[in-house]
Amino acid sequence: MANNTTVVSGIRSTGFLHLGNYFGAVKQFLDIQEQQQCYFFIADLHSLTTHPKPDDFFENTKQVLAEYLACGLDPEKAVIYRQSDINEITELYLYFNMIAYLGELERVPTFKEKARQQPDNVNAGLLTYPTLMAADILIHKGERVPVGRDQEQNLEMARKFARRFNELYDQAIFPEPQPYQFEEQELVKIPGLDGSGKMGKSEGEGNAVFINDEPEVIRKKVMRAVTDSGPTAENQPKSAEVQNLFTLVYHISGQEAHDYHDEQYRKATVRYGDMKKQLAQDLITFTEPLRERIRELMAEPEYLRKVATEGAEQARASARHTIEEVRHAVGHQSF
Ligand code: TRP
Repeated sequence: MANNTTVVSGIRSTGFLHLGNYFGAVKQFLDIQEQQQCYFFIADLHSLTTHPKPDDFFENTKQVLAEYLACGLDPEKAVIYRQSDINEITELYLYFNMIAYLGELERVPTFKEKARQQPDNVNAGLLTYPTLMAADILIHKGERVPVGRDQEQNLEMARKFARRFNELYDQAIFPEPQPYQFEEQELVKIPGLDGSGKMGKSEGEGNAVFINDEPEVIRKKVMRAVTDSGPTAENQPKSAEVQNLFTLVYHISGQEAHDYHDEQYRKATVRYGDMKKQLAQDLITFTEPLRERIRELMAEPEYLRKVATEGAEQARASARHTIEEVRHAVGHQSF
């Protein structure tokens, strides 16, 4: 991929960062921002589908901004902004809604999933999530989008709307955004603490370690992590949940610690309690500077305001450029 490719990614402000997000996404963002023209935004408008309380709507955005900055997203290297500050996105969303069809929107798996989860609140915003996401990306003519597997269908829709718009107005305004290809070895999947394959906040209380969790909370969660009753013979294969714990130890405590406990396991002398104690301690050590930085940032509303304001200005400059072309294509003229 050439340098200076336009990369766009949105971060939903509905949940705080856990280690799965950190190793699965944020860490890659840190590399990408060194090489490409990046737009990283907080997708606060998307969160309105579930009608958050007005105070939460803002506070969540603020916390997410602080967390990402704490992790190293750098406003000097990437344009970091809040979606709702860019009216051009909402305008482009409207144009895309005019060329998005009910049938195709209803078939999107994430919509079907959400409709099942909240049958009393299947609103039009939920249905048109893919058109808003397309607007998020295409407002900057985004070419690459670092997102997880679960977002592939939404990205496919963005390509569809880009193509359709270009064809309808017979102009090559939008590129067709592609997923950002990560190197194989960079893709780290962090397992959850409940024995399930994946760390996630929807997997239930206690499964995920949040970077902002207090040491005591981390210790409790880790000590409660699901294991089994231990090997009864040498060289016994590991159960899935124990394997998960070893994977966590590998990523957090490192190779040496992993190999030590692995050897104990093979000799059937492993002590899960010791292993967990070490994991908890290393998790606390790893998250401590992040937690500290989040605390500092949350106490500096002026700085957060400056970052958000300057980011919005930069994002708006790029957005305005695109929306002018779009208006022109649609036939909008000044009186
Ligand atoms: N839908 C994405 C998610 O749930 C968040 C998102 C919104 C996004 N708009 C985007 C991601 C634009 C990439 C580009 O994770």
